[in-house]
Amino acid sequence: MVFTKEKYEFMINGVIFDLDGVIVSTDKLHCLAWAETCKEWDIPFSEDINDMLRGVSRMESVDIILKYGNRELSGEEKASFADAKNKRYVDLLSTLTRKDLLPNIPYVIRELRNRKIKLAVGSSSKNATAILDIIGISDWFDAIVDGNCIHNSKPDPEVFILAAEALNVHPRNCIVVEDAESGIIAAKEAGCLAAAVGAAKGFGRADYELDRIEELLGVV
Ligand code: BG6
Ligand code: MG
Repeated sequence: MVFTKEKYEFMINGVIFDLDGVIVSTDKLHCLAWAETCKEWDIPFSEDINDMLRGVSRMESVDIILKYGNRELSGEEKASFADAKNKRYVDLLSTLTRKDLLPNIPYVIRELRNRKIKLAVGSSSKNATAILDIIGISDWFDAIVDGNCIHNSKPDPEVFILAAEALNVHPRNCIVVEDAESGIIAAKEAGCLAAAVGAAKGFGRADYELDRIEELLGVV
């Protein structure tokens, strides 16, 4: 684990987890669904572009893909493109099981619950609640704030401010776990601590960088 800042004096009473790419490997399914849809629409796509979509809403993702693919679509076409991706994505979600949870997530969540830490999911995805239900883990969390609850997606802090409120814990006493640069910015803007995992590591704005999710237990 890398401590990117000096140690904090605030107690951590709440942990807010991003979902896609932090709790469950659905980030790979987002990537696959975008890749297949882009192929069908003859729009360039790559893993580097996919990394820019982490934490970003579906329609903002369309704008990023079109910008980097140097393509323009009408408003109606953009909506069809986004719908086509979401249909593919939802089909892929039906196969999810607990095997798709990221390594050691069940252990870490069980440990945090034993320590009486409040737990939330804070996700930009409108499919987040369905994903938790499909896997059967909704009751692991005290609050779930998803893309249907917010007006502005990450890097806007709204999702994490709402999640801290739902936990009844001040943001400065919450730590957010994120795999998206946009999510790290959102966490810091919300006044929370931020722990970067996966693709968000090396960004420089997180308070902690975790190589393995179990390292969170050394922070909380
Ligand atoms: C975020 C993902 O969790 O949800 C983004 O990191 C995705 O890649 C966003 O675009 C919106 O997801 P959905 O399921 O509402 O299309
Ligand atoms: Mg994510």
